[in-house]
Formats: sequence, C-alpha cells, structure tokens
Amino acid sequence: MKRTLGVCYYPEHWPEDMWAEDAARMAALGLTWVRIGEFAWKRMEPEEGRYDWGWLDRAIATLGAAGLHVVLGTPTATPPAWVVAKHPDMFAVDAEGRPRGYGSRRHYCFSHAGYLEECRRIVQAMAERYGPNGHVAAWQTDNEYGCHDTILSYSDAARDAFRGWLRAQFPGQGNDGDIDALNATWGNVFWSMDYDSFDQIGLPNLTVTEPNPAHVHAFRRFASDQVVAFNRAQVEIIRAHTDAPIAHNYMGRITDFDHFAVGADLDIASWDSYPLGFLEDRVGATPAHQRAYARQGDPDFQAFHHDLYRAVGKDGRWWIMEQQPGPVNWAPYNPSPLPGMVRLWTWEAFAHGAEAVCYFRWRQAPFAQEQMHAGLLRPDSAPAEAFAEAEAVAAEMLAAPELTPAQAPVALIFDYAADAAWAVQPHGAGLSYFGLVFDWYRALRKLGLSVDILPPSTREFDGYALVLAPGMMHMPDDLKTALNTADGQVIIGPRTGARDADFNIPTPLPPAWPGSDLTVSRVQSMRPDMPITLARVGTIHSYFEQIESGGPVLMETTDGAPVAASCGARVTYMAAWGDDAAHMALIRALVPDLPVFVMPEGVRRRETGTEVFWFNYGAEAAQVEGQTLDPAGVLRRLK
Ligand code: GAL
Repeated sequence: MKRTLGVCYYPEHWPEDMWAEDAARMAALGLTWVRIGEFAWKRMEPEEGRYDWGWLDRAIATLGAAGLHVVLGTPTATPPAWVVAKHPDMFAVDAEGRPRGYGSRRHYCFSHAGYLEECRRIVQAMAERYGPNGHVAAWQTDNEYGCHDTILSYSDAARDAFRGWLRAQFPGQGNDGDIDALNATWGNVFWSMDYDSFDQIGLPNLTVTEPNPAHVHAFRRFASDQVVAFNRAQVEIIRAHTDAPIAHNYMGRITDFDHFAVGADLDIASWDSYPLGFLEDRVGATPAHQRAYARQGDPDFQAFHHDLYRAVGKDGRWWIMEQQPGPVNWAPYNPSPLPGMVRLWTWEAFAHGAEAVCYFRWRQAPFAQEQMHAGLLRPDSAPAEAFAEAEAVAAEMLAAPELTPAQAPVALIFDYAADAAWAVQPHGAGLSYFGLVFDWYRALRKLGLSVDILPPSTREFDGYALVLAPGMMHMPDDLKTALNTADGQVIIGPRTGARDADFNIPTPLPPAWPGSDLTVSRVQSMRPDMPITLARVGTIHSYFEQIESGGPVLMETTDGAPVAASCGARVTYMAAWGDDAAHMALIRALVPDLPVFVMPEGVRRRETGTEVFWFNYGAEAAQVEGQTLDPAGVLRRLK
C-alpha cells in the first residue's frame, strides 16, 4: 500500500484569492490529501434551508485542480446559532446538571432527536451535492466524538432515551419493559432502590452518595450506543451517494464509547495525534517523565493508538487525520517539539501501518481559539518549522518501499467495555483499565516487541507467541475458551471476569477459568506510595488480589504471597498491577524464545513485513544496530 501525506485546511478562514496558491504549495510539498469542511456549517447553510455551496464548490475545484484529493468533513460538531435557537434544549448537560452552552463547539447531546434531524438534513444536502464529485475522495463524519468530555450527557433527552434503551434491555409485556427484572438484575433491593416503572428511572448523577454501579454501567453502555447510532445515521446517508471511504477522527485516550462498534460502520479509522499535548494532560506520566519527554512526547503513547486504531479500522485501514506540527494551544504547557520530531512522528505512524498522515493545520489562524496553535505555515504564510520536516518525509517516501503489513508476535486485547467497568468501579483513586493495559504495552515495547492490538471479539489467536488480556472485568465464556486453547502463552488478570455482564460478582468466584480452580478470594487497592517488592524482580502497586489454589506460582512477593500463577496449560493469572520490571520479567519467563532487544532509554522499535524501524524519543544519542541514533532520529532498514 502507498503511504501518503495530507493537511487540514479551512478555506472559509482565508480570502478566496489565497486558495489557488495554497493549493499549489500543498501539491508542491508532496501532499495528497486535504481535509476541509468539518466546522463550516454556518457557511454552508447561513440560515435554515438556505444553502450556500458556491464557495465550497470553488474551494473543492481549486484543490482538485492542483491534483489534491479532498476529505470532506460533515460539520455536525459545530451547529450554528440558528440551530441552537431552534432547539434550545439540544445542549449536553454535565454531571452537575449544567447545560454545556453555545460559543465553542460540540454543544450538542447525542440523544436529542431534533438535533439528529438537523444533522441528517445537512449531511443529506452535502452528500447529494458532493457524493458524485470526483475530487471528494474520502469523507469524515463529525469531528472527534468525545472531545471536551461530551459523550456522557445528563439532559432530559438523554434520560428519556435511556429509559427507552432500558425497556429494550428488559423486554416485558406490550411496549413496557419488565421493571422487576431490572430491579432484580441491578440489585435494587440493596437500599430500597426498586422502581415501580421505567418512568421513575433517572440518570445516575446528582445522587447523595454513589449511585448503583449497575445503573452507571448501564448508562455508559447506553451512551456508547448513542454515539454509534448518531454516527451510523450519517454513514447511511453518505453511502447512498458515494463509494468513497468514510472515516471518523478518533482521539488519544478517549474511551467513553466503543470505538470498535463505531468503526464497524466506517471504512477507515483515523486519529488525531498530539504527542506533546497528550504527555501533559493524558498519558498520566510522572512529573519527571513529563520533563524528560517534554519536547518528544511519550515514547509509547502514539504507538499504542496507532496499533489500537489499526484494529478499529476495517481491514486494518487507518490514518492520522491530524498530526501535531509544532506547539499547540490547549495543554497546560505547550513547548516546541525537538527539531526532527514531526518527521519522527510521521515515520512512526507509517511504521505502524498508517496509509496517510495529515498535518493539522495548513496555516496558523491569527484569530479565535487556536491563535497559539502552530501550522505548517505561519499566519503570514511563511513556512513554519514543520514545513521542512514534512518536505523531508515526502522526499524520503519517494525512495521507500510500499507499506507491507505483517502480523506481530504479540497480541494485546483492548476492551472498551472493560474500560467503562473500571471507570464505574475503579476501587482505588486513579486506577483505570487504560492505565493497566498501557503499562503492559510499554513493557512489551521496552523489549523491542511489535504488538497487534485486537478487539475483544477476537476468537482466533493463531500465530501469536503471546496474548495478553489484562483487566477484562467481564470476559465472555467463549473468549475464555478461545484463550485457553490458543497456541501461544496467555496472560490474564487482575480483575479478569470479576463481574458478570450485568455488573454483579459471579459465582463461582473470578476468574472462573475453564479447567482451573484458581480463585480470587479477596481484592485490595493500595496507596500509590506503598509498592510491594517481589521476590526476584520488580514491584507491584495499586491493585493486588489474594489468590487461592491454581497451578504453579510464577511470581511472589518477598513474603511469599502469590502474584502470578498458572491457571491452564499456557495461561497465567497475574493477580496484581506490576511495574515495568515485573511485567517484563513475566513476559521473558513465559516466552523465552521470543527475540527481545534491550532498548536504550527512549528508543523504540517496530517491524513491518519489509522494514525494521528504530525511533529515538530520548534526549541523548543512542547506539542502535552499530549506529548512532541522534535524538529525534529514525533508523529505517530493509529486512
Ligand atoms: C483537535 C481538533 C481540531 C483542533 C486541534 C487542535 O482535537 O480536532 O479541530 O482543535 O485539536 O490541536
């Protein structure tokens, strides 16, 4: 597959007489794609039913004439003031009951039926007009579902839709659901919380103390389904008018909806990669780590999402829709990247199988919210630092082989439902499923291993020497069976199978692993400042389960408490949250034949079918394969 570059562009922000030169410069830079349109609803439809397509027709024609392919975004993340005036109750409502009002973006509730109709209408009009346009070679739905914490809404519209969703989950006589079944399943007897009818069920906010976790769990599943339905409504309309692939641009560490479920309706998964912004506000790194990687980004965070979204995309198709080009505006601190990092981030995406990397944005805007956000060009149209780096990548790509994917030796399951379950009941401050899975991912990468992330629906694990499924709080029986019979080694736990599908503790007690009597008899979370030392190497922290029975113990504390034990011929139960050393030691013990590399600090490695890449995220030069790899350096070798 050919690798391509692109850019995000806002023709509506610039005088029309600049467009042709912009397009010519994009083409000369070696770009293939230009994404436009995703915030321009007011320009497309200045007032209800009055469309103004002239400018967009001309913008697409100008870009197309320069040889560029357009990705056209639907503008439903930015409903104009007239839409809001027509539907004053369309805002999402936060957990404190406050409407999230007009004046920025994403000011809508996924459950508002009137707003959904407005979206259908504008998407229909766009699809009719631009579906047949040969320059429009791909589509993007909306923009970043979940950005600015917008998935969970506590509006009246959400409450009504949630009741309907629950009725369907607990079907009863006629149109009404079976409220007794809901009460029994949720355990509402606990504090006399039983409902007499579905109309009494509210949303799980503004309660005196914590609401019933089963209630919160159901609400999160509902909210995820609402995103799927909202996206699907747009996809169905676009597909009726074009065969062009449809993408959505997902985000880093936004897990509030099931991306695999949204992705099933799309052709391409794309995501927006802002390595320096994420390091400050999403990785969850220590201050020392933030300081060490302030100008490079976390060495594993981008790669994790590349691998995750490769799994979300149909047939592994995925892009970077927005790539950080320089300082951004939105993190607590917004440093410049080290020279060379924009090139490194771009090549790293290609090394993980990206078809396209698009930079955000073409020209820095001198007005409004993102004045402090770099682009490929400065506001005066002179090249900014990233321009030359994009140019360098474009030149290097000409001599590079085509992209050849290859199965990695290791698989890691990522389950959005488990992430939601941990969020409902973390059992300790700051504990998250994402954090646990990401720690395992980092350990694998510190051993130089390439990783395939797999959805929880996977039942075939052929060809993997090691499969990891940490922290899956609910694990269906057929997945347990599939893992039990996998060819390679398998690591599960902690919290595997800790809840049934309705968020109750199952009996027999977890993990209830087929063919094993290993039992989690007690669970504890621990203060972050009380790590427990292991007998041979590493420590455990945050979460530690007491296990009984099971097979041979592979890891124990210095006091002899079991930490990892066998629960099948090739299955190991890890009863705690380990540090990198513990995780790496367990991996090496279980799969001693796997070729591992001792990576210098900050260096990471990734293999494709034809190439091996090494990336230096560190601040110091490193020795790799007999060569010196400078900070921000990329070493690319044919295999
Ligand atoms: C993304 C968003 C873009 C832009 C960018 C700035 O989250 O999709 O529209 O705001 O951040 O970094």
